[in-house]
Amino acid sequence: MKGVLLAGGTGSRLQPLTSILNKHLLPVGRYPMIYWPIMKLKDAGVKEILIVTNKEHLTSFKKVLGIGKDFGVNLYYQIQNNKGAGIGDALLMAKDFIQQGKFIVILGDNLFEDSLVSYLEAFRKQKAGARVILKEVKNPRRYGVPELDILNRKILSITEKPNIPMSTYCVTGVYMYDQQVFNLIEHTNPSSRNELEITDVNNMFVGQNLLEFDILNGWWIDAGTHESLYKANQLVYGKELKEGEH
Ligand code: DAU
Repeated sequence: MKGVLLAGGTGSRLQPLTSILNKHLLPVGRYPMIYWPIMKLKDAGVKEILIVTNKEHLTSFKKVLGIGKDFGVNLYYQIQNNKGAGIGDALLMAKDFIQQGKFIVILGDNLFEDSLVSYLEAFRKQKAGARVILKEVKNPRRYGVPELDILNRKILSITEKPNIPMSTYCVTGVYMYDQQVFNLIEHTNPSSRNELEITDVNNMFVGQNLLEFDILNGWWIDAGTHESLYKANQLVYGKELKEGEH
């Protein structure tokens, strides 16, 4: 299975750190943020990885990560032409790279503890459609929030950054899709914040009864704000210090 890492966007919530540096190249522990999802993919056997980023940051990414030799993976790069036009728009840029088959997408600012192996295995067994990974969070309003039918293990709908969340879960930035996703993205319209929303796409899968989910066990963080970037560093360093690597 191939992997796609989305590392575009504007990084506006991390200004002024992101005025010259791409968010995903900011330090988390002793590595740039993007290193962590690359390692998660590699550890799960996903070794063909496309990184989608902004034109202005492409050289920096290539300088830091190269073709992936140091990681034992093959890295490819694609520019998102419309900077900040949404996760859906960024994902469309991966269409040629994917060509066919199921694949996994990770938002480059999502860091987590769990191995991806069991989730990928479950998706391999799934006939078609998409699979998302949920996590219970303190403040779901910041995220895409599912309305759940726990008994039947179904997502009924997802709302992006709701005022009144329908559950205490968020949809994390780890998504698994089949080919159909590109066609669905092409049928979405920009939202009120002028982005092609991945939540709209996921709701289309819900409409076809083709969206399955798992729930993350370990810690998870979206490192897209100053506070959560600090927390991500604590989590990563905490683990390292415990292992006595300092
Ligand atoms: O972290 C999980 C959340 O991520 C989900 O719960 C939400 O449903 C999902 O919309 C997303 O919300 P955010 O507001 O955190 O998304 P953000 O704009 O921060 O973008 C997340 C990543 O996606 C970012 O690190 C880079 C990539 N991205 C984003 C945009 C808008 C792109 O590559 N291109 C883009 O145009």
